[in-house]
Amino acid sequence: MYLGFDLGTSGLRTVLMTGACDAIAVAEAPCAVSHPHVGWSEQDPNDWINAVKSCIATLCADHASALSSVRAIGMSGHMHGATLVDAGGDVLRPCILWNDTRAMDEAAMLDQTAGVREISGNIVFPGFTAPKLAWLARAEPDVFARVHKVLLPKDYLRFWLTGDFVSDMSDAAGTSWLDVGARDWSDDLLSASGMRRDQMPNLVEGSAVSGQLRPEIAAEWGIFHPVAVVGGGGDNAVAACGVGCLSEGDGFVSLGTSGVLLAAKDRFAPAPASAIHTFCHAVPDRWYQMGVILAATDCMNWLSRTLGPSPAELSGLLGDQIAGPNSVRFLPYLSGERTPHNDSRIRGSFMGLEIGTCHTDLTQSVMEGVSFALRDNLEALKNTGTQVDRLLAIGGGARSRYWVELLATILGVPIDLPVDGDFGAALGAARLAMMGDTGAHADDVMIRPEIAEMIDPRDDLCGAYDDAYGDYRAFYPAIRRLTK
Ligand code: XUL
Repeated sequence: MYLGFDLGTSGLRTVLMTGACDAIAVAEAPCAVSHPHVGWSEQDPNDWINAVKSCIATLCADHASALSSVRAIGMSGHMHGATLVDAGGDVLRPCILWNDTRAMDEAAMLDQTAGVREISGNIVFPGFTAPKLAWLARAEPDVFARVHKVLLPKDYLRFWLTGDFVSDMSDAAGTSWLDVGARDWSDDLLSASGMRRDQMPNLVEGSAVSGQLRPEIAAEWGIFHPVAVVGGGGDNAVAACGVGCLSEGDGFVSLGTSGVLLAAKDRFAPAPASAIHTFCHAVPDRWYQMGVILAATDCMNWLSRTLGPSPAELSGLLGDQIAGPNSVRFLPYLSGERTPHNDSRIRGSFMGLEIGTCHTDLTQSVMEGVSFALRDNLEALKNTGTQVDRLLAIGGGARSRYWVELLATILGVPIDLPVDGDFGAALGAARLAMMGDTGAHADDVMIRPEIAEMIDPRDDLCGAYDDAYGDYRAFYPAIRRLTK
C-alpha cells in the first residue's frame, strides 16, 4: 500500500493506493485561508497537521488493515508558500501563500537582479518564496532574524512526519532560489535576497526517499514497520504524475483554486519574458512549462459567497452544453494576475451589466472570463514554441461538463475528461511513493487515466467565442491605468 497526500489550498486530500496502482480509499479535510489585509493570503501550518490527522482517522475507520500495510508516503503541496521555522523547529508566523501579493515591490526588485531570470528560468513573481523573505526582512526584521529554515508547505508536513528538513526539485523550483536547469540551490540567487544555503532544506528528486516516518506517528496509524517518505513535489508537477503528463506533447488544464495550463518538457526550456513558468518536473531529468492564473475556481467561490448558492448550484444553472458567449464580460483578476500580465495590482471587473442580468449570466461570464484568461496562457505557451494539440482537464472545476466544453471551444483544443480528475495530485504523490519504494520507472507508473469523455471544440460556436475573446483582451489595457 502507498499513501499520497495532496495539500491543496482549500484542503488536504489523501489517497490510499495498492501496489497495482488502484486507489482504494480517499479522505479529505478542509483548510481555511485568511486574508488579514488586501492582497494577503495566509494559512496556519498547524491546520495542515490537523488535516492529516483527520484524514488518517477517516482511513483508519474503514481501511485500518490497508493503512497498516503502507510502505511509503508521497506528498504534493501548493507551491511557493513561506513556512518559517526557528532553530527549535517552531513555526514563526502564519505561512504566506502562493496567491499573496504583499511582496510585489520586493519581487520587482529581485527580478532586476542580474542572472535571476536565466538561472531560475522564471520571472520573480510576487507570490514566489524569495520576495516574501525580502518583505519579511523589511517588515518583520525580528522574525527574519530568527529564521532557521524556510520550508514549502508540504515540506513542513514532511518535517512533522519525519523530523527532516528536505524539499524536492519541483517545489524548490518555485522559490526563485533554485538553479532550475542544474537542479540545485543557487548561492547567487540566495544571497540576492539575503538568504543562505544552510537555511534551505536538503534537496531530493520527487521519487527519491527523503526520510522515514517517525515510529511514534506510524504506531498511532497502526503501522509497525519502517515507512519511507519520498520527495513528492509541487501540486502541478505531482498532478501531472497523477495523469501521466511526463513527456513532450503531454499537457493538462487545471481548474483548481488557481488555473493552470501545463505542458511537459524533455529539457529545460525557459521563456521568462512570456510570464510562462518553467519548473523541474517531479521525476528526474524532466521539466515542464505552465501558464498560471491566480483565480479559477476561486472566482466561482467568490461568486458563490457573494450571491448565496453554492458553486455547484451556480454551475448547475448552465446545464451541460454551451450555447454561445454571454454579453457580460468578467476579468478574473481577483488576486492580481501572473501569466501573461505579471500584474499584482490589477483587480477583477464585470463589464456589460444590465438591468436584466441574473445569477445565470454572472455565473456564465465568470466561467467565460476564467476560460479567456486560460486562452491568454495558451497563446503565451504557443509563443514559446510549445505545441499543445490535446489536453486533459483536472481540478474541481472540471466536474462541470459545461466548463470543459467551454474551455475546449475557447482554447480550440480537444479536452479529455478523466473518469476521476479530482484526485490527480494525491494519486501522483502515491505513485511517487511507489517509485521510491520499488525503483519502478516513471513511464511504467505514471500512466494516463481512463477517459470518461473526449470533448471537442464546438465548431459552430468557435467564431462567436473568438470574437468575445477579442473583446476580453481589449479590457485589460483599458482598465489597467485605473487600478491603483
Ligand atoms: C503555481 C501556483 C499554484 C499553486 C496552488 O505556480 O502558484 O498553482 O501551486 O495550487
